[in-house]
Order: sequence, then C-alpha cells, then structure tokens
Amino acid sequence: VCVGLDVGTTGAKAIAIDPDGGVVARAERGYPLSTPRPGWSEQDPEHWWRAAQAALADVSAGREVAGIGLSGQMHGLVTLDGAGRVLRPAILWNDQRTGAECAEIEERVGLDRLIALTGNRALTGFTAPKLLWLRRHEPDVYARIARVLLPKDYVRLRLTGEWASDVADASGTLLLDVARRTWSAEVLEALELPGAWLPPAFESAEVAGATIACDNVSQGIPVAAGSGDCAAAALGVGIDHAGPLSVVLGTSGVVFAALPSFHAEPQARVHAFCHAVPGAWHAMGVMLSAAGSLQWFHDRLAVDVPFERLVAEADAWAPGAEGLLFQPYLAGERTPHADPRARAAFVGLGVRHDRGAMVRAVLEGVAFGLRDSLELLRGLGVEAEAARVSGGGARSPTWLRIVASVLGLPLETTAAEEGSAYGAALLGGVAGGVFADVHDAVARCVRVRETVEPDTTWAEAYEEIHGRYRALYPALKGVEN
Ligand code: XUL
Repeated sequence: VCVGLDVGTTGAKAIAIDPDGGVVARAERGYPLSTPRPGWSEQDPEHWWRAAQAALADVSAGREVAGIGLSGQMHGLVTLDGAGRVLRPAILWNDQRTGAECAEIEERVGLDRLIALTGNRALTGFTAPKLLWLRRHEPDVYARIARVLLPKDYVRLRLTGEWASDVADASGTLLLDVARRTWSAEVLEALELPGAWLPPAFESAEVAGATIACDNVSQGIPVAAGSGDCAAAALGVGIDHAGPLSVVLGTSGVVFAALPSFHAEPQARVHAFCHAVPGAWHAMGVMLSAAGSLQWFHDRLAVDVPFERLVAEADAWAPGAEGLLFQPYLAGERTPHADPRARAAFVGLGVRHDRGAMVRAVLEGVAFGLRDSLELLRGLGVEAEAARVSGGGARSPTWLRIVASVLGLPLETTAAEEGSAYGAALLGGVAGGVFADVHDAVARCVRVRETVEPDTTWAEAYEEIHGRYRALYPALKGVEN
C-alpha cells in the first residue's frame, strides 16, 4: 500500500491506498489548538508527532508499505535550537499577530518586488512575518534559533531524521522564489534572515528521507517530500494540470486553480504558489474559517448536537434564511480582504430565526466567501467549468448543494473526501516506485464518484444575496473594535 499522512489543524489523518487507488485503511487522531491571546493560534509540535505516529501505526500495521507521503497545514512556524529541541509552540497559519511585521516586510523588500519574487503580499499567517515577530517580541527565543520548519516537515524530522521541505509548502513561507522554485537569497537578505535556517526544498514527489523511528512502522520506507495541504488536496482529487478547480471545505476554505506557469495576480489578492507537480504552479484564494465556522458554532453554541442534526435543522430553511446573513471572518480574513482585524457577524436576525436559520446562514456565508475567491481567480483568466471538492465539510450534501449553487459550478466528489491525505498517499506512491510520476498516480487512482449540480432556483436567489453579503464587510468596517 501507499500511505498518506496529513498533519492538519484539528488532527493528523492517515490513509493507506492500494495501487488502484482504493482506500484500505483510515485513521485519525485529534489534538488541541490554543489561542492564548485574541488573534493568536498555536499548537505543540509534540502533539502532531504523537498523533501522526498513532495514525501511521494504525494504517500500516500488518501491511507492506511501499512509500509514505506527507502533507500538512501550511505556513506554521516551528523553531528548533542547535540540539533540535522545539523552542516555543508553533505559530499557525491562522494566527494574526504579525500585522506590523507584514508592513515591515513590504517596506524592506518593496511591494512590487515581493509580489514578483514570491507571488504574494506579506500576509499575517505566512511564515516570514512570524520570524520578524519573534525577533522583536521574543529576542531570547530568536537568538537560539538554528532551524526553521513547517508543520509536516517537523513530523518528517521525527519520522526520518531528515531535515527537508518541498517547494509547494515552502511557497507559503514568503521566502521562496516561486518562479524559480528555490529559496530567495534576495528576500532573505532584505529581511536579514539566515538562509542556513532553511531546509533543502525538494519537488513534492521526490524522496526526502526514510522511516527510522515510528512504532509499528518498518524502518527504511521512503518518505516523499510531500506538500502543503492545499496542493496535496488538489492532487488528491486529480488536479495535476489546469482544468477543474479544487475546492476545500476544511477548517480553512480554498479555491485552487492549477496553472501551467508562474502567474502572480498584480495586487496578489490570490496566492501564487508552486504546485506539487514539477513544472506547475497554482493560484488560490484562502478563507481562514470555512468548516472552521461550523466547527466554532458547534463547539461554542451546540456542543452536544451532532453536526448532521445541525445541518438538518438548516435544511428546514429556504436559501437566504429570511434575510439572515453570516460573515465568516471569525479569525480575520485572508481572501479577498487580507484583513487580520475583520471579525464575523450575524446580520438580520429576527424573532422567527432559530438555531437552524443560523446554521443555514453559516453554510451560506462560507459559500459566499468561496465565491469571492472564485471571482478573483476568474479575473486572472482562470476558466472554470467544474470543481472537485474535499475536506470535512464535503461530507454534507446540503452544504455541497449550497456551494454548487453559489459558485454556479458542478461539484465533483471523488473516492476520498480527505483530499490532502489522499494526495499525500499518491506522492508516497511515486516516492515508493508504485507510480511512475504524479500524472500516472492520478490517472490510475482518482475517479469522480458523484456530481452535485447547482440548483437553478437556489442559484438565482444566491445571486442577489451575494450582493448583500458583499456589502457587509465595508459596512461593518465602520463599527469595528
Ligand atoms: C493555505 C492555508 C490553509 C492551511 C490550512 O494558504 O493557510 O489552507 O494550509 O491547513
């Protein structure tokens, strides 16, 4: 079998697939996320490793594993000292503390040059601003840094002893020359960051290590460089070249288009990153709280109610839930506003509204946010006729029908809703010699299972409601804290 491991935000997910792409085992282990201050978001890398080990052991026990691929939440900063010890909790992709450092980076590198080199503006969740934040606010920690790693690369270090990354995940650091697929000496120099802190960045399907230390997993299994979860999710639903989009309804929400060449949006309102496919790039919009918004509603307001029941209550309401809107910016927002201070809101509550109406508004608000990303991608020249979905939220038929209707696109599901772990397994299979390359892996494994068409009546209603939704952000900006 080929094994894929995704080091996500809510937990580590592992799957094992056979050479035809059939899923033969799945395992998941959760871990907590801590928000020690408003806008902060941190995790303990030791938790990732423990969860990863247990999930890998579950899917590997009693099976011949040809190769392992890794994927993970992007942008997280893990810092190690000279002895390889973790210096402080990892600062995650949805952490918003670095507003001042982002301004400093754009000033030091120059905005146009930064976009030309990295394909992006300096955004609060990215890795480089977090290093500048440490330099300013935790100089003792900063002084002891010897190595910097992304989340899945920390797990690799424990699993294989190898210090490595890949170009797709490295794109999210703001330190990669994305067109050349190599670390940018120019950006490093402008930010006065030592290049020696950064691991070698491989192509995603290349071998970067072999297992040494994991209970119930044999030694010497090749481990692919892997990729950030967005590129892995796209690969996992079969997006190995320009064609259908990948839409992820995970904690974050992603609308992703594969591109045949590096193409940054002039104002970088969407990200331009390397794809997990050699010689391919991608553009994507990212929402910080997609299924994360539903998770929040559940955890804080309805913790004893199963998700299915919440969504069934939402089903009782017609599109638009009698005028109720939800702006899903619980953790600030990246696309389309790049505003760490934005916050979420329910607007239009009336006495008839109940919990189901609020859930309906949450599902729809997230769909409108995805639509904003889709429109920015269209502005780049991306022609989208269909999208493939993955992520926990893709398990809900109601949510898929809402998203299809808001985007005006048929949504295709594939065998694996856990797209990222599946994509990682394909990369692991290439590293293990089961597949010739990523295209071969996709051709042999990925099949569309079901297509969810937009509902024409809903789509019509959503056109109008999306206009009202778009007016929320500028209006609420005026009353923000
Ligand atoms: C991508 C991003 C998120 C995380 C979530 O830019 O920040 O999608 O990768 O895991």
